[in-house]
Amino acid sequence: MPAQTDNTRYITTPIFYVNDRPHIGHLYTSALCDVWARYERLSGRDTFFLSGTDEHGVKVEKAALARGITPKALADENSAEFRKALAEFRITNDHFIRTTDLEHEKQVQAFVATLLQRGDIYLGEFEGWYDEGQEEYHTETKAKELNYISPISKKPLTRAKENNFYFRLSKFQKPLEEFFAVNPKFVQPDARRNEVLGRLREGLQDVPISRTNFTWGIPMPNDPKHVIYVWIDALFNYITALGLGEPPHNPGREARQRYWPATYHIIGKEILWFHAVIWPAILMALELPLPRCIYAHSFWISEGQKMSKSLGNFIDLEAINRYVQTYGLDAWRWYLITQGPLGATDANFAAQQFHDVYHSDLVNTVGNCASRVTAMIGKYFDGIVPATSDQPGSGPATSVASGIAGFDLPGAAKLAVAQTTEAMELFDLSTATASAIGLLRKVDAFINATEPFKVAKDPNRKDELATILYQCAESVRIASLLLEPILCVKMPELWTALGVSGPTTETPLAKLAAWGGLKPGTKVQKVALYPRVEKPPTAGGSI
Ligand code: MSP
Repeated sequence: MPAQTDNTRYITTPIFYVNDRPHIGHLYTSALCDVWARYERLSGRDTFFLSGTDEHGVKVEKAALARGITPKALADENSAEFRKALAEFRITNDHFIRTTDLEHEKQVQAFVATLLQRGDIYLGEFEGWYDEGQEEYHTETKAKELNYISPISKKPLTRAKENNFYFRLSKFQKPLEEFFAVNPKFVQPDARRNEVLGRLREGLQDVPISRTNFTWGIPMPNDPKHVIYVWIDALFNYITALGLGEPPHNPGREARQRYWPATYHIIGKEILWFHAVIWPAILMALELPLPRCIYAHSFWISEGQKMSKSLGNFIDLEAINRYVQTYGLDAWRWYLITQGPLGATDANFAAQQFHDVYHSDLVNTVGNCASRVTAMIGKYFDGIVPATSDQPGSGPATSVASGIAGFDLPGAAKLAVAQTTEAMELFDLSTATASAIGLLRKVDAFINATEPFKVAKDPNRKDELATILYQCAESVRIASLLLEPILCVKMPELWTALGVSGPTTETPLAKLAAWGGLKPGTKVQKVALYPRVEKPPTAGGSI
């Protein structure tokens, strides 16, 4: 398998169950990946972003039965919903995998056949505590801790016995411990890593990876009475989408193999064990490289409580669309990314907070800054970016060239680019965003301190006015480049107004964000990016 070059990046969302419809949880995970993927692409990296749907298993079979349709028909319907939602929210996944894709099924069978041959999958009898809703077995210790009740569905766990194929997970206890010891950043955030290590210390038991009590799944290659457990089937999506299990020299698909191993598997905290322990063990058994990082975010709750359809606080597609219609897609993406549960604690979705964040960040900072600067260039320089004395070839430097009123905007812009870039690499999206918008807050403070509207009244200070406004406009341009992965609707509009272009493969972010990219003489138009929304949300929280 080709080694990952430094320039390739691969990010994945979990694949979504088709027995549900898209909601904030799915769109949050997807938005996180999207922002990162967009940023990596702008930075000139060869990026592959995968999302998709998880379509097998007893839950889908039962949901289909209840509707009187086939599982495949249900999967087709709901998978299409997810695909449509991703497109509407401008999620830029490069591929959308379905676990019912023939290419996926064939490769899963090939991987399982290899594991059977190597003796890492064997036939045996299993007995344990089963959570039917989650399709997951718990150990005696864990079941006791849970009081024999499912933490998710609140239904009793059942004692179940099955003749199953097992994956020899116990064999990987030591290799996993060693791997965790030398890769301290493998699971992020740290609190989540500690949870995994704690459970790992309890010892690993072999896990059943096939089922015989239903048929909606991929048949075991050696015994079609058994279907492959949905979680095993699902985890493989990350490598089947790249064609890693395909016969060599499959034209067209081979190229994708270069993206493995994944840079980030982004997931929610409740599915961490599968990703942090079972998946690496399978990869070890197959002698494939392990992903570089499993990042597990926390959960959205809503208006202070767990989201629930009966409480009426569930943020489903209909609720989300009301926000998007009222505030715009940028506002939705901004709120998710800046206020979401990226760390180890849950985040509360609140309508009033949404309203406030929109106004303070997008209306009063990004929008206001862009409109002030473009309006002043319009008023004082006929809408033409002025030449300043500190630009190379534009004459001797004057006292106002840099360090005006104690501000160093070129330095601040450089720092913002460096901080945003570093934070993005670490998937610290909140620091990345704060650095980018921080630059615009500095521009605002700079305008307040230098008062260009007063400077404009003195014809002898035209040079000073030019420098002030050039520095403002150039900082706005640089900040907009850093913000575009989130504010993907309005930042390109701003670029048009500033007469500049966005990053391309030839001019990636680092080059484009260097100071001086905005050329004097460029025609600038006044912009109004984010309108105020007068009607605040109702007290009940919905809009
Ligand atoms: N099909 C599995 C994943 C298999 S990956 C090999 C699955 N699907 S899911 O549709 O139930 O969940 C998808 C993602 O949505 C998970 O990462 C989950 O954490 C996330 N969310 C579901 N509800 C959520 C919130 N309320 N808040 C944030 N994210 C949550 O699990």
